[in-house]
Amino acid sequence: MRSKISFHSIPAHLAIIMDGNGRWARKRNLERIEGHLRGIKSLRNVIKAAIDFNIKYLTVYAFSSENWRRPQAEVDSLMRLLEEYLKIELPFLVKKRIRLNFIGNIKKIPESSRRELLDVTERTKGFNGLFLTIALSYGSREEISIAASKIHNDIKNKKIGQKDIGEDLFSRYLFTSEIPDPDFLIRTGGEKRLSNFLLYQIAYTEIFFTKTMWPDFGRKELINALRDYEKRIRRFGKTEI
Ligand code: IPE
Ligand code: IPE
Ligand code: MG
Repeated sequence: MRSKISFHSIPAHLAIIMDGNGRWARKRNLERIEGHLRGIKSLRNVIKAAIDFNIKYLTVYAFSSENWRRPQAEVDSLMRLLEEYLKIELPFLVKKRIRLNFIGNIKKIPESSRRELLDVTERTKGFNGLFLTIALSYGSREEISIAASKIHNDIKNKKIGQKDIGEDLFSRYLFTSEIPDPDFLIRTGGEKRLSNFLLYQIAYTEIFFTKTMWPDFGRKELINALRDYEKRIRRFGKTEI
């Protein structure tokens, strides 16, 4: 039996850049895909811990719009892995009443994986447990330019007027329209950059970088990061009192 952990404050929305799978594998003389495979185990552990700690929204960066430029063999294996993941994980998602959501340019995902993805989204739509979002074929710049183009169309079709444009309306045109902005962002793998992830949404997000490679990240590492979050004082531009 695990001891009960409590936190002074917990992020309602946790976002994670799951980086370092390839380096983790290469260091062990394994193929990069082995690192991705181990990364799935980390994701499962983090999802379980997030539920235990009462985190409401979890958003994970799984594949960026720039990752399409990787060698075709790696892209193909990642797409296969995604499809298998969704098939294998569905009973777990159902059992935990996790609602699965995707953000990104899904049109680019190969047909069979896309079908699986839409099917799982549909089947978990009514659940009110953890709201799990997987960023797939996702890039902030692409998201923002798609939003601008949709707004243009809606003005042209008189659905909205130019005077309606503001921060609230703009947020509603992003892929993340259903989810609040992240409170906390963790990046594993040692790099200190955002790599085109949620640039608009993380304006006031607390950020945590760790050298731990994603396949080595689990419950213990998450607790460590959340302990750091507890100490942060979020001012949102105001003064403390
Ligand atoms: C993150 O791990 C997963 C994806 C981007 C698909 P990487 O594949 O980027 O692993 P490193 O950063 O090369 O070690
Ligand atoms: C960011 O990792 C994307 C994901 C984790 C899915 P990358 O490995 O693609 O980022 P860079 O290329 O090191 O910036
Ligand atoms: Mg990487």
